Amino acid sequence: MNTILVTGGTGYIGSHTVVELQKAGYDVVIIDNLSNSSIGILDQITAISGIRPQFEQLDLADEALVIDFVARHEGISGVIHFAAYKAVGESVQYPVKYYRNNFYSLINLLTAFANRDVDLVFSSSCTVYGQPDRLPVTEEAPVKKAESPYGNTKQICEEILVDTAKVNANYRFISLRYFNPVGAHDSATIGELPIGVPQNLVPFITQSAIGKRGPITVYGNDYNTPDGSCIRDYIHVVDLAKAHVAAIRRLEQKSAGSNYEAFNVGTGTGSSVLEVINAFETSTGVKLDYKIGPRRPGDVEQVWGDVTKTEQVLGWKAAYGLPEMMSSAWKWEQYIKENPIT
Ligand code: WQD
Repeated sequence: MNTILVTGGTGYIGSHTVVELQKAGYDVVIIDNLSNSSIGILDQITAISGIRPQFEQLDLADEALVIDFVARHEGISGVIHFAAYKAVGESVQYPVKYYRNNFYSLINLLTAFANRDVDLVFSSSCTVYGQPDRLPVTEEAPVKKAESPYGNTKQICEEILVDTAKVNANYRFISLRYFNPVGAHDSATIGELPIGVPQNLVPFITQSAIGKRGPITVYGNDYNTPDGSCIRDYIHVVDLAKAHVAAIRRLEQKSAGSNYEAFNVGTGTGSSVLEVINAFETSTGVKLDYKIGPRRPGDVEQVWGDVTKTEQVLGWKAAYGLPEMMSSAWKWEQYIKENPIT
């Protein structure tokens, strides 16, 4: 059985991907430093799939620890690399923390797996596009100067993979450029666990709806969009998780394509902030309390993905729409209120 290493596997997208890998018949080993997730997620994953993934708490920024781990796990045929700091605002405040952690983690993995025939899927982001000149944005769109150190780490990590692939034919890499991951597993027992006040829209909506936060602030309704609020391509986290399994399968086809490819992972549809709020109210029956506030610095006005290449090459297509994204996010918020995960 092929073993897949999932770094950051107790995190939001990581845990959903572990479940889909196990459903697809892969053996999974997780590395996580638990800086932004809870060990209790392992129990939740096990309850869903019936299989407890191997787990090691490890700081990927420590080269010696990573080399030792890889030497002890010869059966690893692929890696899905999620582990990174990802808070845009925090990255502006603490750039060195972000550059150190996000670069060292990837570089240590590449060092430890050197001369091993290993596939690697990298968790990238649509932030590499900035505000695209044309929409929907394709993978061929120019990468623009990132708006934050976080976005810059995603861009530079992609470049590290491109340069490494050029001189290491035994490596095969795929970068998945996520749009906006939202929602939760339909069991409502794994989902997003933001620490502190959620910066992202959907977890703030669900925490406001359950009474944990006050009214939602819509960051601006004076944009050049149909209803004035920003547009994003929201994608259900389970669809996103399945895209990682499709990427691993693509990499296992050793003769397919080049040894570095990038794919957009979204629905190909843009939704505005106000449309998301309306979709939540319609699909849950819960009325939201929101107000219009000033624009948030750094926000791009509108971005959504062209996912044609991903659908054709990876044979993957998003199945869920906004209603399921909102209803699953709400079910998860209600679950976690009664069943805190530590
Ligand atoms: C979405 C829209 C806000 C909160 C970020 C990262 C991206 C990815 C996803 C990691 C924007 C508006 C938000 C609120 C609001 N993360 N909003 N009120 O900024 O598109 O993307 O998270 O990969 O890399 O950049 O997501 O959910 O923060 O914002 O009006 O309380 O919702 O202005 O228009 P974003 P978001």
